[in-house]
Amino acid sequence: MKSAGRKIAALTAYDYPMARLLDEGGVDIILVGDSLGMVVLGYPDTTSVTMEHMVHHCAAVSRGVKNALVVGDLPIACYGAPDAALANSRRLIQAGAAAVKLEGARTEEIGAIVRAGLPLMAHLGMLPQQVREEGGYHVKGRSSGEAASLMEQARAVEAAGAFAVVLELVQPEVAAQISAAVGIPTIGIGSGAACDGQILVTHDLIGLFPWFRPRFAKPEADVATEIRGAIAAYRERIQGGAARRTEGLL
Ligand code: KIV
Repeated sequence: MKSAGRKIAALTAYDYPMARLLDEGGVDIILVGDSLGMVVLGYPDTTSVTMEHMVHHCAAVSRGVKNALVVGDLPIACYGAPDAALANSRRLIQAGAAAVKLEGARTEEIGAIVRAGLPLMAHLGMLPQQVREEGGYHVKGRSSGEAASLMEQARAVEAAGAFAVVLELVQPEVAAQISAAVGIPTIGIGSGAACDGQILVTHDLIGLFPWFRPRFAKPEADVATEIRGAIAAYRERIQGGAARRTEGLL
């Protein structure tokens, strides 16, 4: 798709119905992201997500997908060395993912996974698993030093065998330069329009997590309001008084 100039559309899913809807909607890549921790499990960030969570949700998603590429996220602290990275990648693939993703330019771990024949997506820029050390979600590549380091990391993950790289919160000009410099597709999130594809947390796209939305996410629906409306209508139907009951509306 990169060489044909066709943009890659990627979204996240964590369960069967959403995965099936995304797949039927023609999305190219479905990521079982560790954003699971925030938008499904109710943690403040992704650092509480475990392999058990990811295996469980990769299996549910894969049951709903016929066409899209399902990528499973390796959660924090499970790919600190090549052996662990490979063993945990195998668990996600056995659960149904077709590929795995990890954060950072961890070229030894990427190399071990790819040499074993498992497709690996890299993730550079803002790394959500580091949010506590970083003290927030900050744009990367604003200084020339940081931009040069990002370019170096992108080249390194490509050389290590990654088939694609997510660029999260990378300064758009830097993301454009990286996209032009590497042969693998860049999948941007909050990194400008020049990336070879885009990914969003689906909850941010459809307005399903109304308590927080990143500023770069442009929602296309307001599902939370629909749900609240349906709940209010249901309560009214059940609790709305004897008149409705006698009208036979229950
Ligand atoms: O966990 C996730 O959903 C991600 C994407 C936002 C890229 O890593």
